[in-house]
Parts: sequence; structure tokens; C-alpha cells
Amino acid sequence: MSDLISFGGIPLPGIVVEKEFIEKICDKFMIRDEDTVILSYPKSGTNWLIETVCLIQTKGNPKWIQSVPIWDRSPWIEYKASYQKLISKEGPRLLTSHLPFHLFPKSFFSSKAKVMYLIRNPRDVLVSGYFFWHKKKIDKNPESLTTYFEWFLKGNVVYGSWFEHTRAWLSMREKDNFLLLNYEDMKQDPKSIIKKICDFLGKKLEPDELDMVLKYSSFQVMKENKMSNFSLIPENMVTHNLVLLRKGMPGDWKNHFTVAQAEAFDKVFQEKMAGFPPGLFPWE
Ligand code: A3P
Repeated sequence: MSDLISFGGIPLPGIVVEKEFIEKICDKFMIRDEDTVILSYPKSGTNWLIETVCLIQTKGNPKWIQSVPIWDRSPWIEYKASYQKLISKEGPRLLTSHLPFHLFPKSFFSSKAKVMYLIRNPRDVLVSGYFFWHKKKIDKNPESLTTYFEWFLKGNVVYGSWFEHTRAWLSMREKDNFLLLNYEDMKQDPKSIIKKICDFLGKKLEPDELDMVLKYSSFQVMKENKMSNFSLIPENMVTHNLVLLRKGMPGDWKNHFTVAQAEAFDKVFQEKMAGFPPGLFPWE
């Protein structure tokens, strides 16, 4: 059933991550001061943020996002296949990771590298993850949403507990090189969030460039971009078309949770996320 490996107490996707390699990454991978890292728990809108940041880098010109697969534009630190690309790349690098805080390369914590940590309502993360993984031949396939719901609350899913991932990374939120973003604000006011990202990265866009970033990172346009919509993933890894851009709707969980599940989730959220200031989680 499962191609997951366990490292540091966290289930990781064995198809792309190797135990010995991840150990090496954690201790030895050098994050450089000029690096920019996109970090998230899976299904939080990670690829949308990558697409947006790539477009900011090209000032809205879509050539790069339309000619290079998204995983080559911002390679995943924990994937063995990225390693050579990453260490041989000169100059500022764009990197992606879902690694939890305690497995992230230690070199980061004494670097000036910039990190953007993207969070999303975990109920929507759960639903998005269910629809994504139940189609894949790899990793761990939940038979029903009820099963996946139970796994998710226990942290028995790829990259472990959402609650622990988020709690640990949020401990960095006051640092100057850490930008906290959330999916819901990106949906509600993408223009302001693009400006916020530009300020953080020290970039400036003219109004027409900003409009191009907005256009090419929009749900409909990105869904058509074969370099970003996962249609390039080989068929032997999925049962049928693997859809990355499924609905993109905040609050879709309401269409899938039972009343009992919604109540159970609220209880766990309140217990596990106690102590954070009100307003940090816009969906609550
Ligand atoms: P849904 O399954 O709820 O539709 P990740 O990139 O972390 O795997 O996240 C995938 C989720 O981000 C999916 O959510 C997907 O639809 C959403 N997403 C991807 N690109 C998007 C875009 N351009 N605009 C809005 N949502 C997007």
C-alpha cells in the first residue's frame, strides 16, 4: 500500500525522498544567504506561490513558466533528483520544501536566506490532499475521505501532522527573513499579496508588470500551463489524470465534512493551535 519512508518520526514520500539522502540534507545541505525558499505543508497552494514568485522574477514575462517545468524552476530540497541541479546552480536560487522544521537543513538557521511560509485552512488542505492522493499509485492511498480524515488528525500522512508542521515553523514568524503568507489572502486580494512578496524580496514591479503576474498566476491560466499543472508527471505514477488545480476554493471542506467531522476538527484545532494570537489564522 505504501511507498512512504519514515525519518525523524515523519512519513515522507519514498518515490522522491531517500532516507540516507534526507539525513545528509538535514546536516550538510548548504543554504546560501542569497537563496529564497518556498516552504509549506503539502496542498497549501505551494505551486501557486512558486508560479507567482517565478513571474515576479521575470517581471510578468511568461516565457520561463511556459518553457521550464515548475519542479525545475524551484527544485525541492528534499528530492534526490534535485541535488545536482541545486549544488551546481550559481547565484541566487529559488528552492521549495515541505520539510518540517526539525528536518530542514541546519545551515538555514544561521543564514540570511529568505523563507516564505505558506499556510492554508487545514480543513481545505485535508480535502485537497484526499482528492490528490486517492488518485496516485504512489505514497499512501486513502480509500475514503473518512479514512483520510482520521489519518490527517493523527498526522499519519505525508510530511506528518499539519498542526506540528505549522506550530514549529510559526516560531520563526518574527524573524526578518521569514514571510508568513496564507492561501485565503492570496485568493481574496492577490494584488496586495504580490506587492507584499515584492517588498520582501526587494523587487519592484510596474503596474502593467503586476497585471501580467496576476494574469499568468491565475487559476484558469495556470491550469492550462502544462509546465505547471502536473500533466507532465509520467502516467505510471498515477491511475488517471493527476489534477493539481482541482477547485482552488477556500471553504470547499464544507462540501465534504459531516457535522460530526467539522466538530471533531474544531476541537483538535483549538487544542493543538492554542496560544497563537487571534487573527493569525484568517479562516478561523
Ligand atoms: P484544491 O485541491 O483545493 O483545488 P499544492 O501546490 O501545495 O499541492 O496545493 C494545491 C492546491 O492549490 C489545490 O487546491 C490547487 O487547486 C490550488 N492551486 C494551485 N494553483 C492555484 C492557483 N493559481 N490559484 C488558486 N489555487 C491554486
